[in-house]
Amino acid sequence: MHILSSVLTLPEALSTPVGAEVYRGLTSTPKSLAPWLFYDDAGSRLFEEITRLPEYYLTRTERGILARYADEILECAGYRPVTIIELGAGTAAKTGLLLRAAVDRQGAVDYMPIDVSRSALAAAKEHIEADIPGVRVAARIADYTKGIGEIPAPGTRRMVLYIGSSIGNFEPEDAIKVLCEVRQRLAPGDLLLLGVDHVKDRRTLLRAYNDAAGVTEAFNKNMLVRMNRELGASFNPRLFRHRAIWNADYSRMEIYLKSLITQRVNIPALDLEVQFAEGESIHTENSYKFTAESISSIVECAGFSITQSWTDECEWFGVYLAVRK
Ligand code: AVJ
Repeated sequence: MHILSSVLTLPEALSTPVGAEVYRGLTSTPKSLAPWLFYDDAGSRLFEEITRLPEYYLTRTERGILARYADEILECAGYRPVTIIELGAGTAAKTGLLLRAAVDRQGAVDYMPIDVSRSALAAAKEHIEADIPGVRVAARIADYTKGIGEIPAPGTRRMVLYIGSSIGNFEPEDAIKVLCEVRQRLAPGDLLLLGVDHVKDRRTLLRAYNDAAGVTEAFNKNMLVRMNRELGASFNPRLFRHRAIWNADYSRMEIYLKSLITQRVNIPALDLEVQFAEGESIHTENSYKFTAESISSIVECAGFSITQSWTDECEWFGVYLAVRK
């Protein structure tokens, strides 16, 4: 009985999101791991650090656009007040710019940040309520890729924020699916504000994902550290190399962890041993880069149409306003 049940029982960790994804990804050919695995507490802190790097132009460029055009963006909503919903809000570092513009226009605003991280949402609520009187924060803990639920917005027009180029992590067909799910919860005339990174010269892109201080490397290798901690795995991060390349055919940055030697790694919680050949990679992220045309076709496929857009002097980043059809 004892022997039989131990043979027939699946490892418990397989039924957790992390365990299931690690098993899927490391038993696939080629090996891959989903980018959401980056964001445990240590990974979220490393990402915050990335956003302040000199080479990582994305966050600062988007913040500049929002700072300059927040009033104009809110004006596009017309005479009706807006309710602001934010997908993957995190700590809502850039959202204050838009919330302040909304309060200036309409006196008060309802703000619903949606995120999987309870601690990030608590931080968002605290700094926004302290800094911007007039914002009523009602956070929702959820994975927005699995649907956002109903959003009551009596007498107002919804404005869904999806900023930070988060949509760039999805394959185009999955990005369309996420936006279709969002559309289902909106009424005709409701708004979607998207922030996306633009295609640009290869050198600038490569530098942004291969920073001199090695923070992106630490962020990438944090996946290995996380598997060691959560699944008892035996990864030695020094035996892997961070690699970021520009794939012009697919218009995306691709991020990998490349094994420097032939090695076996144990993952006890999954009852799994993983074999790496010398030079074999784990694909950890795609970060798609868009043109006005490519983002417009995704948004149109999902049942929205772009009505306005804003960019910086170099046109490195774009903020697009779309209306639900
Ligand atoms: C959070 C998905 C926008 O793609 O630039 C940063 C994540 N990866 N450096 C990006 C990331 C490596 C980031 N996004």
